[in-house]
Amino acid sequence: MAVIADRCPDVQVTVVDLNAERVAAWNDTDLTRLPVYEPGLDLVVGRARGRNLHFSTAVEAAIAAADMVFLSVNTPTKQRGVGAGQASDLRWIEASARQVAAAATGHTIVVEKSTLPVRTAEAVKAILDAAQGDAGSGKTFSVLSNPEFLAEGTAIADLERPDRVLIGGEDGDAIEALASIYGQWVPPERILRTNLWSSELSKLTANAFLAQRISSINSIAALCEVTGADVREVARAIGSDSRIGSRFLQAGPGFGGSCFQKDILNLVYLCRHFGLEDVAAYWQQVVDLNIWQQRRLSRKVVQSLFGTVTGKRLAVLGFAFKADTNDTRESPAIRICRDLLEEGACLAIVDPKVESRQISEDLGCPPLAAESPGEGGWLPADDPVAAARGADAVLILTEWSAYRQLDWPGIAAVMRRPAWLFDARAVADAAAARAAGLRVWRVGEG
Ligand code: UDX
Repeated sequence: MAVIADRCPDVQVTVVDLNAERVAAWNDTDLTRLPVYEPGLDLVVGRARGRNLHFSTAVEAAIAAADMVFLSVNTPTKQRGVGAGQASDLRWIEASARQVAAAATGHTIVVEKSTLPVRTAEAVKAILDAAQGDAGSGKTFSVLSNPEFLAEGTAIADLERPDRVLIGGEDGDAIEALASIYGQWVPPERILRTNLWSSELSKLTANAFLAQRISSINSIAALCEVTGADVREVARAIGSDSRIGSRFLQAGPGFGGSCFQKDILNLVYLCRHFGLEDVAAYWQQVVDLNIWQQRRLSRKVVQSLFGTVTGKRLAVLGFAFKADTNDTRESPAIRICRDLLEEGACLAIVDPKVESRQISEDLGCPPLAAESPGEGGWLPADDPVAAARGADAVLILTEWSAYRQLDWPGIAAVMRRPAWLFDARAVADAAAARAAGLRVWRVGEG
């Protein structure tokens, strides 16, 4: 929404949320304190806020005044009931649709921005149609699907130069109204129009294909490690085939983030619902392999450290699910750290952007009091050298650029010998670490 406001000065954009604390943070005059860390976002918000970008808790007034409402609420995986663990929880989508139905005036275009299971628009439409049917309400609605393909860390660039914008719907005028907004900065050939169901399904499919590439390369990484091949050489060799392409072939600790696992599980649920058991099993395997990769990593660490990490200190560098974000949702670091805690390790965790409070929440335990000798606990560390002090191993779990130029002699000097580097992202200078006396394991290196 900030980018739309930035690119379309003639459009008034009001972002509303029930959470007053969050809205206040978006209105904070100190732009370094916005609730989401995303490179370049502060500049965009700084330019548009107060001009044609507003953040407010006045949800109903904003709906009443709007020509177009974007539903951009959370759709996490259901935790209980029918479809638990797979289907998306649509309670917030439904609640927002009801709120729009109640508060809207005149004609309103309702845009599904949240990632939704196929045919959700039907439910949204049914709720809006009921309001439209109320005699004398004067309300009419059009529903569009406009899924978001941005990736975190590169969100602003992805929005400013999208590969494509997808608009699904049945009402031609509504589609053109939304297309004319994007048309202010996106070339017309990149604005794709489809029916509602294709649009909803395209988002799930795009994420499933991307995640599948990561599970595929991670499966080959495991094979590289036992055969003496190097997964980066294999990735380069296959990636130069233009039919395969070079992106999304980076082996690592497995994919994380708020989308991939959730969307695949959703796809699996949909397939089962329609009786497509084999298709469901096919996509389920992409998630299973991802979890296997994370487990494989923690097992590798334990095995290498003579079969036990109980009472040993391990330095964990990076907790975010990828670099350039403070987001930890589904971060591979969570499962890997939990496994190691379960084994009794003491983890010293450092991440340039993730706060200790978030790590406590994700690991389900507060940090140890600094002085207590840790067994099965964790401590926040200020920097990689502090994390490595007295540690038997350093694990790199997020590809922060700073981890490409670590001071290996300085780190090795404070570690206990024999000392290990487990580089799950293959970003560290392995030669420098070896020269400093560390034993080095890199994902996908035989
Ligand atoms: C993803 C999609 O890319 C985006 O289009 C969609 O809108 C939301 O989901 P995001 O989750 O922000 O975006 O990050 P992405 O860059 O796709 O990375 C997802 C995960 O895959 C990260 O954990 C990342 O480290 C991992 N990954 C990515 C790899 O392990 N290897 C790769 O080659 C690429």
